Amino acid sequence: MRPHVELIHEDDYIWRPAEPELPLGEGKAKQRNLSLDEEDGSASLRVDFVSAWGRPGGFHHADTEWYVLEGEMTVGDTRLGKGGYFHAPKGAAMPSLKASEGTRILLYREFGDWGFDASAKDAAFKREDFRLIDTEAQDWLAVDKPGPKPGLFIKMLHQNPETGFYSRLILAAPGWDDHRLAHHPCYEEAYTIGGSMDYNFGDLVEGTYFFRPAWVKHGHFTSHEPNGCTWLIRSDGELTNFYTTNERVIAEGTPENYDPETQGPVITGIPVRSKSAGAWDGDGR
Ligand SMILES: [Fe+2]
Repeated sequence: MRPHVELIHEDDYIWRPAEPELPLGEGKAKQRNLSLDEEDGSASLRVDFVSAWGRPGGFHHADTEWYVLEGEMTVGDTRLGKGGYFHAPKGAAMPSLKASEGTRILLYREFGDWGFDASAKDAAFKREDFRLIDTEAQDWLAVDKPGPKPGLFIKMLHQNPETGFYSRLILAAPGWDDHRLAHHPCYEEAYTIGGSMDYNFGDLVEGTYFFRPAWVKHGHFTSHEPNGCTWLIRSDGELTNFYTTNERVIAEGTPENYDPETQGPVITGIPVRSKSAGAWDGDGR
């Protein structure tokens, strides 16, 4: 269970010590929790390395992704700057890792917590599953799936062929717009890396973040000049957009003891609920 977070700016959030969630690491780091699943430990974090930091090779207890916003990381013998990315599946070994002082990253965990073990004798050592990319060397490719209007470009980071789970960079060209509302059967989360856009939940600028559960409507997008808008986006399955136009929300009821113009209730959004509570049936909406 992750709450519907839409929309926050990371600067509004507190810093926490990151060392407890970076086991076997040497060095100082701090983190902001953008989204957290308290049931299984999945998380989307912004991490800053306050000092030089390093860790031996090993394996994570969660599918883990790093994306370098600024600074430098060294993975085994490979040094990557801004745009460096890796995906390390749960239980798959990865090489030693270093981050230089001042490096800023996005760190994602899925299907598990922050556990990390040295890998010397672990049977799950599968180096071929580890994926390392310099996204600055990748070309933007036009998004060619049906649905969105032309003007979106993608750099694929990782896709699970069995579940459809995928992570990608998306660039909306300057002036791109789509005034429909969309919803889809997978979750969608995004951190804005650069540029800006406005949409139904507010303004997306560098450092804004949302985690949107499946089926939540969103849209009315307008990407701004001169840079458009760029995000790192993740979804937990194949994304098929369903579109709504001419939308309207009707809330009806008889005010018994209040003035509906000045004292009327707000319409609630999707509430935060854990797995045991089950789905909300909409009663009282
Ligand atoms: Fe979407």
